[in-house]
Amino acid sequence: MEVSRICCIGAGYVGGPTMAIIAKHCPTVKVTVVDISQSQIDKWNSNNLPIYEPGLEEVVFECRGKNLFFSTDVDNVIRDSEIIFVSVNTPTKKFGIGAGKAADLKYWDIVARNIAKVANGPKVVVEKSTLPVRTAQSMAKVLHANDRKIHFEILSNPEFLAEGTAIHDLTYPDRILIGGNPTESGQKAVGQLEWIYRHWVDDKKILRTNLWSSELSKLVANAFLAQRISSINSISAVCERTGADVDEVARAVGMDSRIGPKFLKSSVGFGGSCFQKDILNLVYLCESLGLPEVAAYWEQVIIMNDYQKRRFSRQIVKCLFNTVSGKKITLLGFAFKKDTGDTRESASIYIAKQLLEERARISIFDPQVDPGQIDQDFLEYSILPTELKSGERVDQLVTKETDVYAACENSHAICIMTEWDMFRTLDFPRIFSRMEKPAFIFDGRNILKHDELRKIGFNVFAIGKASASDTLF
Ligand SMILES: NC(=O)c1ccc[n+]([C@@H]2O[C@H](COP(=O)([O-])OP(=O)(O)OC[C@H]3O[C@@H](n4cnc5c(N)ncnc54)[C@H](O)[C@@H]3O)[C@@H](O)[C@H]2O)c1
Repeated sequence: MEVSRICCIGAGYVGGPTMAIIAKHCPTVKVTVVDISQSQIDKWNSNNLPIYEPGLEEVVFECRGKNLFFSTDVDNVIRDSEIIFVSVNTPTKKFGIGAGKAADLKYWDIVARNIAKVANGPKVVVEKSTLPVRTAQSMAKVLHANDRKIHFEILSNPEFLAEGTAIHDLTYPDRILIGGNPTESGQKAVGQLEWIYRHWVDDKKILRTNLWSSELSKLVANAFLAQRISSINSISAVCERTGADVDEVARAVGMDSRIGPKFLKSSVGFGGSCFQKDILNLVYLCESLGLPEVAAYWEQVIIMNDYQKRRFSRQIVKCLFNTVSGKKITLLGFAFKKDTGDTRESASIYIAKQLLEERARISIFDPQVDPGQIDQDFLEYSILPTELKSGERVDQLVTKETDVYAACENSHAICIMTEWDMFRTLDFPRIFSRMEKPAFIFDGRNILKHDELRKIGFNVFAIGKASASDTLF
C-alpha cells in the first residue's frame, strides 16, 4: 500500500495547506503542488505565501525543499506521481445551461483531459474539489478515452477544512471521507489513500463510502452548516421586533444537546467561496433530478442570507436619517471571516455595493486583505455605481486605509463587517472624538460591548438585539 510520490493540481486555499500537512506527517512521501499560475507558485516558493492562514507558514517552511515542492511543471509532475489530487476551483457557472446555480466544471475537465494526455502509467486521481454528484463518472469517461489503455482509478476525498482554522482542521479532522469503486482496483486505491492519512489520523475517523455518497456528503455538510446560520439570522429579525436578544436565544437553544451550540452566531450574513456555491449546486442537482420541493427548501437558505445583508444596509440608511448620500461610512473588515485574507462572497462586498448605490462614501480597513484585492473585487462584483455624478471620482467614493483609526476619521458610521479580534479592543473614545456626530456603530458580528459604546456616546445598532427594536422597520 505504500506510496512514495503524490501531487496536487491546484495550489489554492485547499491544495496548498492540505498538501503541506500531508508532507509534514508523511516524511517519506514526496509531495508536489502544481498550478498553472506562475505568480501563485512563485509566492508559495517565497517567504510571502499567497494565502494567510494561522500556522501555515511554520508547516510550509519546515517541509519546503525537503519533501514539499511547488511547481508549474504540471505534465512532468503528473507523470512522476502515483496519486494525483485535484483541487482546482469549481465556481458557480456564469453562462449557459445552469447559469447562476450549476458548478462550472471547466477547470476539472481541462485537468482530466491533460492527465489522460500526459500520463505514462496507471494513476489514482482524487477529487479534492467539491463536485456535483456523479462527477467521478464523467471524469472516468474523459480519463479512459485515452488510446494507450492506461487505467485510472477515481476516488472522492472531499475537504472539510474551514479557512482561518485550516491547519487545525487538517491536523485534527472530524473525519476523513474516502469514496471509491467497490472493484478490486478501486479498493486498492482506497487503501493507498488511507495509508497516507493513517500517518496522523485515527483509523476510526476514516470513513469509507461509495463514490456518490462521498460527493453528496460534502455538499450536504456545507448546506447544513449554512442552514444553521440562516436559521439563526432569520430569528435575529424576530428578536429585533420583539425585544428578545438573539445571543440569549442562541445560547438557550444551543444548550439542547440535540441541537448543540456551534454555528448559531447571528451576523450580517455568511460569505466565503463555498456555502453559497455548494448550496446552489445542490439546488441545481435537485431541480435536475425533478425534485422541485427539495430544491426550493435549500434555496431558501440563500434567500435568507441575501435578506440579512439587505436588511443590514437598509438599517444603516434608515438610522442615518434616510440618506447616506455623501456621508462617509467605514467598513471594518473586508475578509469573509476572521483569520483569512479571502474575500470571496464576503458580506462586505454586498454592503459596499448597496451603500454606494445610495451614494455613500466608503472607507475600508482590513488587517489582512491586500488593497489590490479590494480593487479586484470592486471590478469582479461590479460594486461601483455604473454612473458617477458629474465631477465625481472613484477615489472620492472609496478609500482603502492601512490604519484603522484613519479609516474611522470623520466617519458618520462604522460597520463591523468581519469579526477580527483587533476590533474588540479598539480605542473607541478616540474613534468617537474624531467622528461626525451623531456617531453610529453597526455591529454586524455582535462582537463589541454595546453598553460601553453607548456610554461613550455612540448610537449602536446590533443584529438581533432588543435595543435596536425602536429603530426597525
Ligand atoms: N476554500 C475552502 O475553504 C474550501 C474548503 C473545502 C473545499 N473547497 C473546494 O476545494 C476546491 C478548491 O478551492 P480553493 O478555495 O482552494 O480554490 P482556489 O481558487 O483558491 O484554488 C484553485 C487553484 O487551481 C488552479 N487551477 C485552475 N485550473 C488549473 C489547471 N488546469 N491546472 C493547474 N491549476 C489550476 C488555480 O490557478 C488556483 O490557484 C473547490 O472545489 C472548493 O469548493 C474549498
